[in-house]
Amino acid sequence: MVSLADPLDLAGLALPNRVVMAPMTRLRAPDQVADELIAEYYAQRASAGLIVSEGVPVSAAARGHAAVPGIHRPRQVAGWRGVTEAVHAAGGRIVAQLWHVGRLSHPALQPGGAAPAGPTDAPAAEGRSFLFDDDGVGGFVPVTASPRALDAAGIAQVIADFAAAAGNAVDAGFDGVEIHGANGYLIHQFLNAAVNDREDEWGGEPMANRLRLPLAIVDAVIGAVAAKGLGPGRVGFRASPYGTAHDMPLYPGIEISYRTLAAELSARRVGFLHLADQSTTRAEPTMAIPADVLAMVREEFPGPLILTGGMDRARAEAALDSGVADLIGFGRPFIANPDLPRRLLEDLPLAEVHQDTVYAQGPEGYVDYPAYGG
Ligand SMILES: Cc1cc2nc3c(=O)[nH]c(=O)nc-3n(C[C@H](O)[C@H](O)[C@H](O)COP(=O)(O)O)c2cc1C
Repeated sequence: MVSLADPLDLAGLALPNRVVMAPMTRLRAPDQVADELIAEYYAQRASAGLIVSEGVPVSAAARGHAAVPGIHRPRQVAGWRGVTEAVHAAGGRIVAQLWHVGRLSHPALQPGGAAPAGPTDAPAAEGRSFLFDDDGVGGFVPVTASPRALDAAGIAQVIADFAAAAGNAVDAGFDGVEIHGANGYLIHQFLNAAVNDREDEWGGEPMANRLRLPLAIVDAVIGAVAAKGLGPGRVGFRASPYGTAHDMPLYPGIEISYRTLAAELSARRVGFLHLADQSTTRAEPTMAIPADVLAMVREEFPGPLILTGGMDRARAEAALDSGVADLIGFGRPFIANPDLPRRLLEDLPLAEVHQDTVYAQGPEGYVDYPAYGG
């Protein structure tokens, strides 16, 4: 019987338990640099077997919100170094989630006020960007109605940006990286047959065209971390099969796409595959990842598999025990429970998230949730 309390070796990184802190954007970096407040937040959660950082933009064009800490400028790398040092000093492990939002952005956030770019010039019907107004007051606005399709040079730039960011993440002291291929952002936009309407080698049919950019990014990231002394086992990939958030319709052949993706990641010796199930996070009814698809992916990817979405102790233990997953990701429960692993392992009560401060500025609702009994 595998339990949440069991250790796991992740390519030489000794995880003391199976509880993963899932990536969560918290909008606490008004100048786009991770600072002491952010370091304190992650250090408080260092008892997680593994922390996946919030989405970290790989370039100026990659960001979809103000107040997210990037990793493409030297100051940002230095900021993240403070975070990784704090997490390591507290006994934890942390990987950086490398993020490009593609069409899910706003010209106000883009270099030169340009239109955000992804696979297509068709807009997403759903999606919000967090912006500051002239008075410095933050709020959400709809993402652009006029994105543009990347040209060949733009695609090459995206691949180079992911590689550079991965190298920067190693320089900043991260234990590895997770490539964000989920939740309707750039990589997911390229994977999705209903969104990627390109007629060149980066889209449309056959399916291999839609996998081309995601896998080119994986290869470039593996190369970049190798140049810094880390193997492919320290590179992970996050996907959200069947997740429809941000206008990602279901399409025929979706199960084969993810099966093939899993096989390709496995062939590249990628260290972990992180599956995000959106069925408990959306207001409208959303399909869970079907059990047979999970089994198919599992068969193709024998390495460590993280399963996240709507988990509690019982579901987590069941998923570990059945062999569906090796590690269990928790998002929202980590917001209000910095000591979540202990609470799960000792079956202690969980604190509730204060929804109105999830995306607030400053320490409130961020570093002020106490550990149990604190
Ligand atoms: C406030 C918040 C921010 C999130 N930001 C990210 C993100 O930056 N990257 C990502 O892949 N998923 C993000 N997610 C999704 C979570 O990683 C997770 O998949 C989701 O919350 C479901 O897990 P849960 O039921 O344990 O919360 C976010 C979720 C929340 C609640």
